[in-house]
Amino acid sequence: TSVASRVQAIVSEHADLDGPLLPILHRVQSEYGYVPESAIRPLADALNISRADVHGVVSFYHDFHTAPRGRHVVKICRAEACQARGGQALEDHIRKVLRLNWNETSSDGAITLEPVYCLGLCACGPAALIDERPVAKLTGEKVERLVREMV
Ligand code: FES
Repeated sequence: TSVASRVQAIVSEHADLDGPLLPILHRVQSEYGYVPESAIRPLADALNISRADVHGVVSFYHDFHTAPRGRHVVKICRAEACQARGGQALEDHIRKVLRLNWNETSSDGAITLEPVYCLGLCACGPAALIDERPVAKLTGEKVERLVREMV
């Protein structure tokens, strides 16, 4: 099935909703792992809104991704409390170890590195979410071990 016809089917499943755009985007993302560019036009046409509106919503919500992500996702907290606990040096270390910048995926598709802003673990930061698993008191060593276990 093409993305366009799948999007049309998803839109008709959500036809009863008042504000269907967000649930539709969530569904598209759960099926494809991200919101493909080719989904934008059929979505805009079906909902009778502009493509810019759809793009605006996709880029506004950090939950939506516009490119495929890696098999593993490493999210590092970049909010204030974690920064104050040595987060900045740790971030630099992690980017060096993974050879990735924020929101980049390794060329073998193994790991995506993403920033996150507070995980509610401020008292025991620096904190991260590794494949949705919270990790506290993060150190360079801990990250290296977790990455080794992952790939
Ligand atoms: Fe990092 Fe709250 S600031 S968990």
